[in-house]
Amino acid sequence: MSKLDIITLPDRLLRTVSTPVERIDDDLRRFLDDMLETMYGAPGIGLAAVQVGVLRRIVTVDVAKREDEDAPPNPMFFINPEILWSSDERDTHEEGCLSIPDYYSEVERPASIRIRYLDRDGKPQELSADSILAVCLQHEIDHLNGTLFIDHLSKLKRDMVIKRFTKQARIGKPDL
Ligand code: NI
Repeated sequence: MSKLDIITLPDRLLRTVSTPVERIDDDLRRFLDDMLETMYGAPGIGLAAVQVGVLRRIVTVDVAKREDEDAPPNPMFFINPEILWSSDERDTHEEGCLSIPDYYSEVERPASIRIRYLDRDGKPQELSADSILAVCLQHEIDHLNGTLFIDHLSKLKRDMVIKRFTKQARIGKPDL
């Protein structure tokens, strides 16, 4: 397994729509393992392939430790995930993003969802999710469509974040 580089705002790839995976083979499974290692190393609870510069509809998630610190790892892989249903009930959680380092904000989203996806063996699966898993899946599926969590904030807040990161990218960050 190897760790991959995570791209950050304002990289234009983050605004690009990812294309479906057509073939699930050992190469793809190796990539899934690399994504997982990258996500754990960051550390993060979710990662979309676009965040490592690969424009494919792939997501890795592990929310086990977020729910219970002593829980064993529970890696989840979602290929071509699609939201089938979202609840009318909405919920607010604080979100961050590995591609927008050190920025956190409350985001309101549907509280529960149902998704369909292919697992790492290429088998079709469905999953109902609520709480942090629902938040994480919606956040990551947004990535596959070129949407970031800051797009759910007010224009004023979003513009402030984009401005800050664009400026940072221009002057370069000290390598500490
Ligand atoms: Ni993110």
